[in-house]
Amino acid sequence: MPTLVIDGRELPFEPGQTVIQVAHAHGIDVPHYCYHPGLSIAGNCRICLVEVEGWPRPQISCKLAAAPGLVVFTQSEKARQARAGTMEFLLVNHPLDCPICDQAGECHLQDYSYELGQGASRSATPKTKLPKNVPFGARIVYDAERCIKCTLCVRFCEEVTGTGELAMAGRSDHEIVVMTRQGEFTTRYSMNVVDLCPVGALTSRDFRFKSRLWFMDFAETVCTSCARGCNVTTGAREGALLRLEPRPNPDVNRWWMCDPGRLDYAFVNSPTRLKAPRVKGADGAWREVPWDDAIVAAARALAAHPGDVLLDANLTLEEMALAADLAARLGGRARYAAAVGDDADDFLIVNEKGANAEGARRLGLTREALPGEGGAGAAPASLLLVERDRNVPAALRAATGARVVFAADAAHVPPSAEVVFPLGTFAEREGVLLNHAGRPQWLRRNPGAGPLGLAPAVEVLEELLLEVDPAYRWRGAAALRAELAARPGLDGLAALAAPGTAARAAEVGA
Ligand code: SF4
Ligand code: SF4
Ligand code: FES
Repeated sequence: MPTLVIDGRELPFEPGQTVIQVAHAHGIDVPHYCYHPGLSIAGNCRICLVEVEGWPRPQISCKLAAAPGLVVFTQSEKARQARAGTMEFLLVNHPLDCPICDQAGECHLQDYSYELGQGASRSATPKTKLPKNVPFGARIVYDAERCIKCTLCVRFCEEVTGTGELAMAGRSDHEIVVMTRQGEFTTRYSMNVVDLCPVGALTSRDFRFKSRLWFMDFAETVCTSCARGCNVTTGAREGALLRLEPRPNPDVNRWWMCDPGRLDYAFVNSPTRLKAPRVKGADGAWREVPWDDAIVAAARALAAHPGDVLLDANLTLEEMALAADLAARLGGRARYAAAVGDDADDFLIVNEKGANAEGARRLGLTREALPGEGGAGAAPASLLLVERDRNVPAALRAATGARVVFAADAAHVPPSAEVVFPLGTFAEREGVLLNHAGRPQWLRRNPGAGPLGLAPAVEVLEELLLEVDPAYRWRGAAALRAELAARPGLDGLAALAAPGTAARAAEVGA
């Protein structure tokens, strides 16, 4: 491969790469605003200036083609001075908004201002006044004074969705982003422009003003709203899930996610979330009990009414395998329930809504027909596991007559239940999901989301297995995954790096 030199390191590059791409590929940080690997190169912000040996002026590295023998300096005095000059221009009209700006803490303008900017402005001219708090459709708010005219949002609507809802208008310091369709921003992928915006000019109406970043916990996980399994980061604070943002995965979702998936988390923060196990007394009243007591009561109820297990297709492979094992020991079998939509597009959204429906199929489970789908009608089951109302609707839950129920929400417990265990939602559980293409991906727990003290469902299921069948051999989630990896169709599990490992960090680019 041809090579060039950046900051004294000889680095190989692929023909067609630009200098910033080579630098980033080798862990060299070059500031950038208008550059994004998923969009065309505009080269308009000029924060990526670098010095090139033998060239009289600094060059923008996002547009400079890598060439053999090129010698580039990203940290020389000349390069830093050039970028500091760019910062001074960018800040001439930028409002002093950081204390009230949602982007604070994850704003590249703020970061580079600390790194390169001057403490005070040399401009005596009043800052330009521009429109603020402008709705861009129902989900996004635009602040033209904060906008640095990088055009990332405009290019996204032209190049990714092809819907062209945004355009640049005006000139010089009065240039702003405008909507081309009288306030309509209806693409189902609109909120990606909020992630793209390098400053706080585009904010999410759903998330804005809810929390400062530094008070939140984050987890790298996957969206479970459809079986695509877009890679996302959840952000939560003090038990409440506050936002989902996409994280790049070239094989699943590239850099993007859909708005319906991003906003589909209200059920996590439901006021009727279950927080402790419950047992129904002879008088029909529910009592909260310790986990151990609930396990004993559940084993008794299952022994008195053995039968099938019906489970939500959003459960992990580990949870499904244990539930299926329990069903077998009760003389029954495990079935799964998964919603199917009709909203697929040719980008990300798929019709299958069960996040791990493919996992259920590969475990050999049969799908329960949902109400209205025809088939033999809902069958009884003694154990029901339900994370989402959508996959396991009320009619199906009631038809099971289940005595033991794992549910995230009290509203999803059927009247037949005698023992109830609180179940974590996708933001609070950990394990593996197989997406619609059979790709295994980690579901990861966000420590800031959900009720405190929820026991992992895999542990409760194993305790229940032990109580039902003393001959059961405790496995633990890791050993269970290793066992599953030996099954046909699940061999991809073996290659999945465990959360927290260096291999995992490399896998997600951390
Ligand atoms: S709104 Fe944000 S993404 Fe769009 S041009 Fe302005 S700074 Fe760039
Ligand atoms: S396409 Fe599916 S998995 Fe991806 S963000 Fe949307 S709902 Fe979630
Ligand atoms: S990132 Fe290179 S000019 Fe904007």
